Amino acid sequence: MTTDARILAVLRQASGGAVPAADLAARLGLSRATLEAHLRDLRRLGYEIEAHPLGGCRLRSSPDALHADDLLARLGATKVIGRDVRVFHSTTSTNDVVEKLARDGVAEGVVVIAEHQSRGRGRLGRAWISPSGKGLWFSVLLRPPLRPVEATRITIMAAAALARTLRDGCRLPVGIKWPNDLLLNGRKIGGSLLELSAETDRLRHVTLGIGLDVNLTASDYPPALRAVATSLRLEAGRSFDRSELAAEILRALDQGYARICAGEFPEIADEWESLCSTLGRDVAICVGPRAFRGRAEAIDDDGALLLRTEHGTLERIIGGDVSMNP
Ligand code: BTN
Repeated sequence: MTTDARILAVLRQASGGAVPAADLAARLGLSRATLEAHLRDLRRLGYEIEAHPLGGCRLRSSPDALHADDLLARLGATKVIGRDVRVFHSTTSTNDVVEKLARDGVAEGVVVIAEHQSRGRGRLGRAWISPSGKGLWFSVLLRPPLRPVEATRITIMAAAALARTLRDGCRLPVGIKWPNDLLLNGRKIGGSLLELSAETDRLRHVTLGIGLDVNLTASDYPPALRAVATSLRLEAGRSFDRSELAAEILRALDQGYARICAGEFPEIADEWESLCSTLGRDVAICVGPRAFRGRAEAIDDDGALLLRTEHGTLERIIGGDVSMNP
């Protein structure tokens, strides 16, 4: 962790209380002058840090901006995901940045977050709107010990981790539409895009890209999307602390990934099923040029959807676009 991250972590642990400057400097192995210089830098970034000669140092407020040090401080120790966090002001797509890091041999777990994406992309070649400072747009590099056919497990794990975090942390009734859409009150608030690099029987790496509409307002959406997409803010009527949410989500993803690597996908699939609004419903699924209709029955061990078609056959669907109540 960087010095700024450690300062923020200690101040946050005090939960609004004050930490004597001498203690803070001693805990971090810094001179008082060096500590002062770091506090000045943090204040310049928008952290309101009170430093009283008698009362000590207190973190009054944090800016509504994503900073790698702050995310690392909030995240604490993780096994893999979030060991390294890089924040960009703007990028084409965070998946592009991670793809480049993967080719450069960077270790798995690195997280790339951008305040804004100029060419954010969604599944099935769609564009993903990513207005500046409003959402969480990030990608994670993973090198999972899985075969290419098992990659959907990562998508399933991510959807379950996100839905669980939003339900428990924000108290919002978020559900999942197979395989990866997050729905709130019938509209989409987020999703994930998994891009793979694979050999015949093993994954080289995957880029897990996640988009979550946090504080978007109605005017952030093009008219065509307003009926189908929404944000946490629009649904809850208040804004959310993106840094805190990002840290909670990354922690949940780290735990989910550890379970996948430990062979515990069946337990994750059970949790996903309990959060999924697709199963048991009549659906229409477009897979490229092919269309299927039927009842979504279950997901299998690899995360594929088992569809009982209107003709009574069982189809195994690996990816596609689902509409419910066709
Ligand atoms: C979908 O539901 O269609 C998937 C959306 C994924 C969007 C995220 S935002 C961060 C990452 N970078 C991208 O360009 N896409 C993913």
